[in-house]
Formats: sequence, C-alpha cells, structure tokens
Amino acid sequence: MVTSTLFINAKQIVTNSSGKLYEIDLIEDASLFIENGKVAWVGENSNAPAADKTIDCTNKVIIPGFVDSHTHLIFGGDRSDEFAARMAGESYTAGGINFTVEKTRSASDQELRVNASSLIAEMHSTGTTSFEIKSGYGLTLQDEIRLLKLAKEFTQDVTLMAAHVVPKEYIDNRRGYIELIIKEMLPAAQGIAKFVDVFCETGAFSVEEAREILLSAKDLGFECKVHANQLSRSESVQLARVLGAVSVDHVTYFNDKDLENLRESGIVATLLPATEFSTNSPYPDAKKLIDAGVTLAIATNCNPGSSFTTSMPFCIAIAVREMNFNIEQSLWAATRGGALALGNKAGGNLAVGANADFAILDAPSYVHLAYRPGVNLVDATYKNGEVVFSKGGK
Ligand code: NIG
Repeated sequence: MVTSTLFINAKQIVTNSSGKLYEIDLIEDASLFIENGKVAWVGENSNAPAADKTIDCTNKVIIPGFVDSHTHLIFGGDRSDEFAARMAGESYTAGGINFTVEKTRSASDQELRVNASSLIAEMHSTGTTSFEIKSGYGLTLQDEIRLLKLAKEFTQDVTLMAAHVVPKEYIDNRRGYIELIIKEMLPAAQGIAKFVDVFCETGAFSVEEAREILLSAKDLGFECKVHANQLSRSESVQLARVLGAVSVDHVTYFNDKDLENLRESGIVATLLPATEFSTNSPYPDAKKLIDAGVTLAIATNCNPGSSFTTSMPFCIAIAVREMNFNIEQSLWAATRGGALALGNKAGGNLAVGANADFAILDAPSYVHLAYRPGVNLVDATYKNGEVVFSKGGK
C-alpha cells in the first residue's frame, strides 16, 4: 500500500509556510513529499527523499489548495434573468433572495444535494480543497436546519444564516422572525453549525438587529461572521469587533475607522471579487486594506443571485486586475487568508505537518493564475493526500 508520494521536479512550490501576512514562501525547482495525508517534507529537488511513489511535475506549479471561505451552495432555482436585467442596467438588491427561498423550500433534499455536489465537483476541478457553506435560503426552522444538515454532508465549516432576509410570511412581523431565530433556530443549529452570520444591510438586518442575533449566537458558543458593508457602509465592522467575529465579508465600502478596527482586531476581511463583477458594483481597493495591515481573504460567494461562480482562479484574476491586489497577495488571500477566515490557524499552507491539500497547475509560474484568466490550469487537486480531481480522470 502506498503511504508516501513524492511530487518531484516542480518548477515552483508555493508554501505560505512562514505564517507571515501575504508571504507566499516560494521554492523554485522543488519537490513535495507527502505521507499519510500530511506534508512530510518540502524543499529543493536535489535534497528530495525517496518515496513509495513518485509523480513528475516538470513545468508545473504546486500551490496550497484554495480555501473558499464564503459560499451559499445549498439552493434551488436559477436567477439568470435577474443577472441579465442587471447587465441591462438594473441594480442588485437583497430582494432576489426570496425568489431562491421559494425554489429552495420546494426542492427535495436529493435535488439540493445533487446541485451542491456538482458545484463542489467544479470547485475541486479549479483547485479548491476546503470550503464553507451557509444556510439562508430556507428561513423556516425546519428548512434552515435541513439546509445545515445537507451542508454538513460536504464540510465541517457550516454557517447558520437564517438572518439573510426577513421571509415574506414575516414581512409585517420582523420582530417575530428575529425571535424565531434567537429562541428556536440558534438552539436547533447547535452541534451542526460552527458559525452564525447575519446580512447586515439596508433591506436585510440593521446593525442593532445583527447585534442582538449575534450576541445570542455567541452566548451559545457559535463563532460570528458578518456580511458587512456590501451595498452601503454601516457600523457593521465596529459590531464585528465588539463581537470578536472571525471574519467580516464583502467590505465593498469602508472608511478609516473600519480600517483601524480591522487592523487592531485582526478580524479577517473576506473580499468577494466575483460579486462586484456580477452585480456591476464598484470594486473595493484592497491595497488600502493591505497597506493598513488588514488580513484579507478572497472567496467566491458562490450563490445564484449575486455571484454564480465556483472558480477561485477567476476571483484571483479579478482581484489582481480590478482590486489592486498584487499576484502574491491574491494567492495568499485565496489560500492562507481563507483558512484564517474560517478560524483554521493551521490551514492554507504546505509547511511540514500541514494537511496535504494542494493543487498542481499546468503552468510554469503561479503568475499564470491571473495572466491566463478564464483558462483552467488545474491538472490535479489533492485533499488530505487523496486525488479529488485529475484532468485525466480519477
Ligand atoms: O453574499 N448578501 C447576501 N447574500 C448573498 C446574496 C444572495 C442572493 O442574492 O441570493 C451575498 O451576496
């Protein structure tokens, strides 16, 4: 039985091993040795140890697997008409969420499972090895818990997002819905979800409502996340700091006070480049955040409304072209930054002892991730040392 494998002769290996912000710790002409699902050695070819099996990576690049820390993968229905209308000039609003809620409620478990599985296969084929999934298209006690349980079939990083919008049946009783979340949904989500997230935005939940929901979540032992400053700026970043949230997501709008709160708290700001792309919104300036010392992650926000992509390389290409990231920063944010946004301090790197979660790119340099937008460069993806995608078939 093969227990150790040597990936030999790679042109480059990105390790993110120093643990320093935005340092990708590149090794040229390198090999990666994995044993029992972990990285056991990484370094220059000339020092590579012998292994049970050897895989030649000549002219290829090995990178840590992408960590997609923000997705809404469990949903039914299609909103391509809404996307087309936006491309013809309409604006994105939170209102479309209720359309997906209707389609999700009427879908069977198996339909939702098959849809999520095919999106996850896309993720693996583009180099993603870990991902988070939120609920938020059920919005009844029964449906939210159903979505969380389905999400848990695919990942441990599951988030209750019952506070996505107020569902139609509670439109004249938003207090009733908030109480339903606090009194029934949060307790029922214990042991299934790790995180609780709130869409803190005009048309969704106010900062005060988010505070009440997230404080209750914290009391029950959940980690907090906040959808903050997506469509407009509010005090949601300040709230995230008070709560000790693990991440604030979107952060399309921010001011100097937000920069200070993020830098001083160390909360990860997760930027979602495909969302601005797909909603025709202004891109945030990542350089301002990076220069202020903020820890950034990049994620897809895969959902049928505001960002229907599973591709982290696509997000990297936009981040570099439109958001003022340099290529190294964007790659770090899509790997190590994503792990930190999930509270996983040991993830998103290929240092000795790390999980053997990585992608092999059929390219001579990691720069090709942004240089060749729209082209899938992934040759193979490994999770815990096992192939989850191979261009030649598993
Ligand atoms: O992160 N902002 C809230 N939730 C999703 C959009 C959901 C939808 O439009 O269906 C987001 O963009």
